[in-house]
Amino acid sequence: MSKPRILIARAVFPEVIERLSHHFEVESNQADTVWSKVELMEKLRDKAGAFTTGSDRIDGEVLAACPQLKICANMAVGYNNFDLDAMTARGVLGTNTPDVLTETTADFGFALLMATARRITESEHYLRAGQWTKWSFDMFAGSDIHGATLGILGMGRIGQGIAKRGSHGFGMNVIYHNRSRLDAATEAECKARYVSKEELLKTADHLVLVLPYSAASHHAIGAAELAQMKRTATLVNIARGGIVDDAALAQALRDKRIAAAGLDVFEGEPAVHPDLLTVPNVVLTPHIASSSVPTRLAMANLAAENLIEFFTQNKALTPLNPQVLKG
Ligand code: DGY
Repeated sequence: MSKPRILIARAVFPEVIERLSHHFEVESNQADTVWSKVELMEKLRDKAGAFTTGSDRIDGEVLAACPQLKICANMAVGYNNFDLDAMTARGVLGTNTPDVLTETTADFGFALLMATARRITESEHYLRAGQWTKWSFDMFAGSDIHGATLGILGMGRIGQGIAKRGSHGFGMNVIYHNRSRLDAATEAECKARYVSKEELLKTADHLVLVLPYSAASHHAIGAAELAQMKRTATLVNIARGGIVDDAALAQALRDKRIAAAGLDVFEGEPAVHPDLLTVPNVVLTPHIASSSVPTRLAMANLAAENLIEFFTQNKALTPLNPQVLKG
């Protein structure tokens, strides 16, 4: 019997391709070309499965052009590149990679928070530019992490990981806001207190965004929200571009409406709002929060495992729309 045909839409670890090749006829993209939508549809037309990343948009148009497609396995926990309703309507399974990246991403959120509060990249640029000629009492004086109030917007697994790092590791007073409140045991484990979004904005010394992107969270942080924050506060976004209004944030940073920001994700990335590139008080990284070698390998293997389980057993480890598996 011939093997099902799958597309691996972006470059990935060779051992993962090797593993998938035992089960599938694989077309890969080790040149890591970013295909246009038309090119992606062309490549997917004769495929039963796809190994996708957050940059590969799977919507109604793609699904209509690729009627043989049965599963898209995303190598990401976020799946806002999927039109999940359209996939479900066509009986196409979507999967993602939760859990395996939680701790690595929480580590990075904390790293970005510390770099932002302590002005690490700003001061490094100064040093590299040869501007460091003497010590001075307030040179790159930032804000403290230990003992400060850490606000977390979005308290899923990654948010909880950040909360624990803050409360247990740095003695921070942790507050959070989420669509639904955590149970008392989880709140106690995280040493985190539930507050309204307004209180979160007004009281946090450092605000970290870890909520999923959706129409409801689009521009959850815009000019009005930034205006409620402390002037000394920092803002970190490791969630998704579009949750922050980047133009409003650049303006707030320029006006010193808040002290600083750390951003790993951007509206319209990989493009970055030009104003963010010119303000000094922002740390910018290219969407790498989950990028440690072991974690990226674990994510790729989980996506591969979802494809294998689906085609061999009509199930998946981490399905997003398991209703399509029934029957
Ligand atoms: C995720 O897993 O959603 C990360 O943002 C990597 O894309």
